[in-house]
Order: sequence, then C-alpha cells, then structure tokens
Amino acid sequence: MKSQGAGVAAGVREIDEYLKLGEVELSERIVEAKRKLGSRVMILGHHYQRDDVICHADLTGDSFKLAQMASRRPEADYIVFCGVHFMAESADILSGAHQQVILPDLAAGCSMADMARLEQVETAWEQLHELGIDSILPITYMNSAANIKAFCGRHDGVVCTSSNAAPLFDWAFKQKEKLFFFPDEHLGRNTGVKFGIPLDRMAVWDPRLELGGNTPEQLENAKIILWKGFCSVHGRFQERHVDDRRAEHPGIKILVHPECRYEVVAKSDLNGSTENIIKTINEAPAGSKWAIGTELNLVNRLANRHPDKLITLLAPDLCMCATMFRIAPENLLWSLENLVDGNVVNQIKVDDETAKYARIALDRMLEIQ
Ligand code: 13P
Ligand code: SF4
Repeated sequence: MKSQGAGVAAGVREIDEYLKLGEVELSERIVEAKRKLGSRVMILGHHYQRDDVICHADLTGDSFKLAQMASRRPEADYIVFCGVHFMAESADILSGAHQQVILPDLAAGCSMADMARLEQVETAWEQLHELGIDSILPITYMNSAANIKAFCGRHDGVVCTSSNAAPLFDWAFKQKEKLFFFPDEHLGRNTGVKFGIPLDRMAVWDPRLELGGNTPEQLENAKIILWKGFCSVHGRFQERHVDDRRAEHPGIKILVHPECRYEVVAKSDLNGSTENIIKTINEAPAGSKWAIGTELNLVNRLANRHPDKLITLLAPDLCMCATMFRIAPENLLWSLENLVDGNVVNQIKVDDETAKYARIALDRMLEIQ
C-alpha cells in the first residue's frame, strides 16, 4: 500500500501567488527549494519539457528511461514528474511504497492516452472472443491510462514504449498468434511493418463501431489489430513535409518519431524514440543536415545544442505538445515549496488493485526489454 499525500492541509500554498513571479525569481527559488529538499526529492523530466523546466530535472529521458529511473531510486521520498499524467502513473506504480509521485499540473494529460478507455477495450476484447479469436495478446503503448495497463497485466499482455516496441512484439508473437495493440495505430503499424507483416493483415479497430468497423473475416485474417488512436502532434507530419525539406536542403536526413503516420515513417531515413533521436543527433558529424519529426521543444533544444549541424523541424508550422507545456516553472516551484513546508500537492496515486495488475505488465516490459 502506497503512502497518501497530506492533501489540502492547513498552510498549503496557493498557485495564484506563483503566477505573478518573474523568470529569474522562479528559477532561483526552484534551485533553493531543491537544495532544502536534498536527496528527498528527485525531479524527472521528459525530453518534451520546455527548457525553463527541464534545466531543473535531476534526470531526463524518454518514457522508457524515466520508468526505469522511477523504479531504481528508492532514496527519494518524492518524485516530481515533469511530463504527462500516464508517465506519473507509471512512476507511482513502479516506485516504492514509501515514495510519492507529484505531477506539478494535473491538466498535463495526453490526448492519445485518452483515446482508449477501459470500457471500450473490454468491449472490443469480448467481441473478439465471441468470434472465436482467442490466441491474441494485448499490448499497450506506455501512453495509456493505468487501468489499460492493468487490463494487459490481467490478460498475459505487456506494455511497450517507442524504444522497445520491436523486442516486445517479438516476444508477444512467440506467445500468441495475434496482437491487439492500443492506443497508437501508427506506432503499432510501423512496428508491424518491421516484422514483415503486410499492411492488409493489420486491421484498425474503431471503438465507435461494431467489431471496430471490420468484418469477422478481416479480423480473422489480421495478425495485428490496431486501435484507432493517434498523437495530435506527430499525426500532423505529412509526406509533403519530407519532400519539401529534401527539396530545400539536398542531402538532408529525415529523422522521425514512430508515432508519425506510416507513410511519413516509410519516406524518412531513420525513426526512433526521443532518446534515440537525441543519440542520433549527438553522434552525427558536424555539417550534417537533419529535419526532425517530433515535438518542437526537443527539436529547438537539439538545434541550440548543435550549432555545427543544420537542424530543423520537419514541418515548420507545427506547434509543441500543449499538455507537456502545461508543466511550467510556476507549477514546479509551487509543488516544491509545498513539499518544503511538508505539504504534498497534486499527488498521482493509482489504486492498489489497478497498480497490482499494471505492474505485472510493466515489470514484464522491464524484464523482456
Ligand atoms: P518517448 O517514449 O519517445 O519518450 O515518447 C513519448 C511521447 O509521448 C511521444 O509523443
Ligand atoms: Fe501525448 Fe503526443 Fe503529447 Fe506525446 S506528444 S504526450 S503522445 S499528445
């Protein structure tokens, strides 16, 4: 059983007073609050966080690395998660019973994760079994709610991230004939293609329609059933963006996140998770040219860090992930100063039953990967 935060105790600082502070004061007070909390606090930062937040993170990573870190730092009583809700939930599930996870703004969700609700997944699962499709294994992308991860834990399934989808699909195909992948249609399709699965053997399940909008034959023929979900940021990259960047900068390499649509990934030179994108750019020679199809904050940071390389966003008019952006220095300072006062605000707490089964699916991922 996890310890519960103090909740709204007397003396809790209000967020309003922080909204008036200037950049320098915010930064200095964050540094001071961290100093006072010492090793009792660990700040984790996802690569899509803005610069004025990520500069305060003790550890940064993609969603897989952050999950690993949350499971390996028992010394921190508080994990302040600068990322989105599903990441904080996973950190809560994987961290020790004495650790409390804090999300500095509770509105930092993920629109893709919201596209698969447990009732919908359970209905789909029943419909598949009614058709006699029994040799099927559920895999959920990390970008999903804890109860979806728990569903996978209950049904011999697993969680994957964009950095380990291939080894996990490999493992899954050794267990069952078919995979049911949610919520990202595109990561599922891009990974299926790596296994040589033809596009017409990947069915798409639209949760608003009976049998997901498929005939029984289509579902029987499918090797992978892909949930109809997508990332509102990565889903906007188009094939024409690849053509435009190549025309503008001959010799440019196109590097995209596998949440991009299949046609875009197929046209690119390379694809990988955020951690993988960073590694590729770090190792690229001076003078090389890159158009990157991922979140704006990360691309801008890479461009600033590597002035000797040409680095540009794949689609010049795309914006950042709005929910990642909700974690601002104001919220971070507010949560840290409350911790200094002994008040835990915005704790993310997954109920014990859900956490138990979600942990089975997450632990499986950590073991197999
Ligand atoms: P990574 O697993 O690459 O960090 O991606 C997380 C995410 O939300 C991408 O949109
Ligand atoms: Fe979710 Fe897309 Fe934002 Fe990632 S970039 S957190 S998948 S909305």
